[in-house]
Amino acid sequence: MSQRRTLCLAADAAGLVQAAQLLRGGALVAFPTETVYGLGADATDPRAVAGVYAAKGRPAFNPLIAHVPDLTAARREGRFSPLAEKLAEAFWPGPLTLVLPVAQTASVCDLARGGLPTIGLRLPAHATALALLQAVGRPIAAPSANRSGHVSPARAQHVLDDLSGRIDAVLDGGDVSVGVESTIVAVLDERAVLLRPGGVARAALEKLTGPLVAPQDGVIAAPGMLASHYAPRALLRLDANELRAGETGLDFGGRLPGAALDLSPRGDDVEAAANLYAHLRLLDASGARMIAVAPVPQDGLGEAINDRLRRAAAPRDAAAKGIAHELG
Ligand code: TXA
Ligand code: MG
Repeated sequence: MSQRRTLCLAADAAGLVQAAQLLRGGALVAFPTETVYGLGADATDPRAVAGVYAAKGRPAFNPLIAHVPDLTAARREGRFSPLAEKLAEAFWPGPLTLVLPVAQTASVCDLARGGLPTIGLRLPAHATALALLQAVGRPIAAPSANRSGHVSPARAQHVLDDLSGRIDAVLDGGDVSVGVESTIVAVLDERAVLLRPGGVARAALEKLTGPLVAPQDGVIAAPGMLASHYAPRALLRLDANELRAGETGLDFGGRLPGAALDLSPRGDDVEAAANLYAHLRLLDASGARMIAVAPVPQDGLGEAINDRLRRAAAPRDAAAKGIAHELG
C-alpha cells in the first residue's frame, strides 16, 4: 500500500465539503460517530473498499457496516421486516447496527458485504457523521478506524496514531460520546439475534424484542467477533481486586487501590464506556506491560465493556501462529 499524506480536516462546512469530495472520489476518510471513529470509503466502490482493508491491515474481507443518513437510504440497501422497522424506529439514529437480508435495490458492493447475502446498516447519532453522509449521497462503509487488532479510536489523534500515512484524511469532531462500538442485531426472520453487545444496552432492546437470541443458537455470526480483538499492547488481567508486582491498575468505581486510572470513579457504566479505549491507549503509552482491571458490573453498557475487555485479555497465540486473530 502506498504512503500518502493524511490531512486533518476541521469538522466545519469547508472540512465537510472536502471530506465528501474525497470520499466521492474513492479516497479513505476517517470520521467521528457517537460510538468510535470510522474509516470511511464509498461503499458502492469496490476499489475504495479494498483500500480500507489494506489501510487497516485486515487479514480477511470481513464485512463492513454501511452507514446511511436516513431510513429511506437504509430501505434501499436492506429488507426490513416489521421487527426491523420497529428497532430502527426506536433506536435510530443511534448506536445500533441492523444486519438484514440485502435488498434487490442495494448499491453497496459485494466486497463491502464480505460477499454475504446480508448487510449491516447503521444510522449514526452524530451531527458531523450525518452531514457527511448527506453530502456524499452514497452509503459509506466504515469499520473502526484503527489498525487491525488494536483498540478502537475515541478521538482524531488515535486515528492518526494508527493510520497516519495510510489514509487520505481524518475529519476531527473531537471526542466520541458513547465510546464502545454499536450493538449489532441480526433480524433475518422474526427473531432478533445479538451478534455484538454495544452502545445500546440489552435491556433496552429486549423491551421491544423479548429475549435476544444468542448467535450459537442461530445460523449467523459476526465474522469479526473472534476471541482476541480490541487489544492494547499490554496484557490484561481481569476481575482484579488487588495490584500484583509489575501491574498497572485500571479501576472501576474506586475499588482497586493504587490504580493508575479509573474508568468511572463514580461507578457509572456510560462514563466507563466513554473512557474505555482512551484509557487503554493511555496505559499503553505509559509503557504498562500488564494491566490489572477491576471488575465491571454487567448492567447497562457493562455487558459491552466486559465483552471488549475479555477480547483484549484473550490469548494472542493465534496471532503468533500467523492465524487471523482479529478482523475488526
Ligand atoms: O460503532 C460501530 O459499529 C463502528 C462505527 C464506525 O460505526 N464500526 C465498527 O465496525 O465497529 P467494525 O468493522 O469494526 O465492526 C463491525 C462488525 C464486524 O465484526 C463484522 O463482522 C460485523 O460487524 N458485520 C458487518 N456486516 C455484517 C453482516 N452482514 N453479517 C454479520 N456481521 C456483520
Ligand atoms: Mg473494529
